[in-house]
Amino acid sequence: MSFRSSSPRPNLVPSTRKTYKAPFVRAAFGYLDPEVGSVDYRYGSGPDEVDIFFKAKKPWSKVKDKIVGDYVRCYLKTVQHLERQILIVDGFAGPGRFGDNTPGSPIIICDAISATAKGKVGIGCFFADTHPGHRAALESALADYIKRGVTKKAYDDCAEALTRALEVGTKATLFFYLDPYGIKDLEFEMVKQIYERDPRRSTEVLINFNFRTFMRMSGNWGYGDSASEVSRKVKAGKVDTVNRVMGGDYWQGIVTDPSLDKIAREDAVVNAYMDRVRRFFPFVYAIPVCERNESEYAVPTDELARYHLIFGTRSRRAVVYMNDVALNALAPYLNQFKDGLLFDMTPERRQPAPREQVKAEIVEAVSARPLKRPDIFEIVIPKFFIQYPVKEYRQMINELAFGEGRLHPDRSTMKRKAQLNDDTPLSANPWSGAA
Ligand SMILES: C[S@@+](CC[C@H](N)C(=O)[O-])C[C@H]1O[C@@H](n2cnc3c(N)ncnc32)[C@H](O)[C@@H]1O
Repeated sequence: MSFRSSSPRPNLVPSTRKTYKAPFVRAAFGYLDPEVGSVDYRYGSGPDEVDIFFKAKKPWSKVKDKIVGDYVRCYLKTVQHLERQILIVDGFAGPGRFGDNTPGSPIIICDAISATAKGKVGIGCFFADTHPGHRAALESALADYIKRGVTKKAYDDCAEALTRALEVGTKATLFFYLDPYGIKDLEFEMVKQIYERDPRRSTEVLINFNFRTFMRMSGNWGYGDSASEVSRKVKAGKVDTVNRVMGGDYWQGIVTDPSLDKIAREDAVVNAYMDRVRRFFPFVYAIPVCERNESEYAVPTDELARYHLIFGTRSRRAVVYMNDVALNALAPYLNQFKDGLLFDMTPERRQPAPREQVKAEIVEAVSARPLKRPDIFEIVIPKFFIQYPVKEYRQMINELAFGEGRLHPDRSTMKRKAQLNDDTPLSANPWSGAA
């Protein structure tokens, strides 16, 4: 990989095995006081200040951080085996740390690199932020990583970082995290460059898509508005900008469809956007991040998501990893519909498919030829994304093999009578010669 331009670029030096210890964070406009545990930025709208948004992390942002952190760890553990340089791009980086001293995505990503780097391949990051105050704060927050060559000064703009990563990383393994404030900076043509990358290279993307901003920008229509009222408002909205973000005007027919209520509209818009991305990536999913009802007495209800994380990949294994990472992060939200309640009140659209349906898919998967458990996961989980964790699939396979006799394990590969392992081939038919 060659670096020709004068833009900031990471060394992509092989990382050390040493565990990273959090540095004493010196913010651009203040410092981290270990006693108080807060970052003393000057907040405001000036170019040398940090947006008030970063004063304290919102509860729903914690879910996205957990998903990014856990997934990047899983991702790095796996893609290092490809033995190609790895480049992670955080196109909307922010200042690196929140005022309540919680880490922002750049630190979460760099910490994940430190925790998983095996030293066999170079791992680097590109960060970008349009706000000079954020870039200055970020440089300070990442000083230790900059010193170690994991990253360099941030780019001024997401589009620049993205284009540069695609240029210098033609053969690299690339992961893009795009987390803008709203949607206007997510122009489809810009993001499309990622999708159009050489399909032989590993490319993944995680995008924060904010449906509430989408609603605002497309005319600020309300849930109670009739379809004709929505139509009128859409015309007065920022239609051109929304078209550019969505990659077409197909969304207009959805939001003005009188048969859809607010929840159905949200699903339909997000699904249509994913269909657009699916033209490039075989596996595209939305992870809805909703606000949890904190009141002990309120009955939990289905609400619009705060945002959706749109995950795109060409790898079935990545889908399996993200399935468990996302389910784990969404558990506090999903459990509120069950825990301590007399009945399961999970909204219909969040209900997992019936176990029997999943089991039928598992049996179908092995009907052509025997498969091992990890292969079954990679075939079946993409069909039921974020419905069951891997451990539940193991349980279903056990039931099929030992309780129902619908799967037949090759017992010669098993150490114990009723214990499958990942090397046990499973068939839909009995093995010849088996007792
Ligand atoms: C939601 S915040 C990102 C938060 C960050 N991911 C974190 O976890 O701490 C969005 C950031 O994008 C920056 N931004 C806005 N437009 C941008 C653009 N076109 N390119 C790069 N950054 C941009 C803003 O200044 C802001 O810091």
